[in-house]
Amino acid sequence: MLVSAKEMLTKAKAGKYAVGQFNINNLEWTKSILLTAEELQSPVILGVSEGAGKYMCGYKTIVGMVKGMLEELNITVPVALHLDHGSFEGAKACINAGFSSIMFDGSHYPIEENIEKTTQLVHACDILGISLEAEVGSIGGEEDGVIGAGECADPDECKAIADLGVTMLAAGIGNIHGKYPENWAGLSFETLDAIQAKTGDMPLVLHGGTGIPADMIKKAISLGVAKINVNTECQLAFQEATRKYIEEGKDLEGKGFDPRKLLAPGAEAIKATVKEKMELFGSVGKAK
Ligand code: 13P
Repeated sequence: MLVSAKEMLTKAKAGKYAVGQFNINNLEWTKSILLTAEELQSPVILGVSEGAGKYMCGYKTIVGMVKGMLEELNITVPVALHLDHGSFEGAKACINAGFSSIMFDGSHYPIEENIEKTTQLVHACDILGISLEAEVGSIGGEEDGVIGAGECADPDECKAIADLGVTMLAAGIGNIHGKYPENWAGLSFETLDAIQAKTGDMPLVLHGGTGIPADMIKKAISLGVAKINVNTECQLAFQEATRKYIEEGKDLEGKGFDPRKLLAPGAEAIKATVKEKMELFGSVGKAK
């Protein structure tokens, strides 16, 4: 059964660990993430960007696939199916399709409009028991065509959005989607500290989890981050393993062309990445 992310994130914030959001692109991705979460007895959030939603034939297809997998693979750990960086329309579509968690990214609107749109979704999600993530201060880099400059969030604006009754809050603190450039200044812990001081128990979300050094991840968790999003790192692990399989000519041996064989090294590589992140985030064994 899909669950809202509220309980798992409240526990994570109180227990000073973070739950990973891993973005999915297809069946292999989903299966690898779910099996790893079950093996490690970790709660998990499956992230779906609007682009990935289109790629996988729409939100209803995804809900059907994920629910089917939870049952057929006997997954017992808490799993939330979450829209990543949703538009207002996308959020409504996912609520209707049966997602258990939504992110409405209104960070590119003026703050008044972000507040107004987020408020409408707070009411809808409350009634349905769906968790809602809001964003203040854009995350740098490009994701599915959404480009953010990456400015740090204003702690007062964070408080204004948190007070609307959202479940979790993503705040820009110098984090970037995708690979970090050589000259990256690092996370602004000063900003994070100020945001936590204003937002109290609100679980904070760190986007752009790929490539953030372990010590920065740990410090961010100590300052109130309870959800960390990882996407590119799984993609790179999949790509590297698939490249190796082909470069070694394995696709030319026997039935190595069978897609179930061709995609297997990539799927295994995703499992290893997810495991490494769950261990780093401290969510292993926290399913109950
Ligand atoms: P990365 O692709 O940098 O890991 O970021 C993922 C993310 O923040 C999804 O919202």
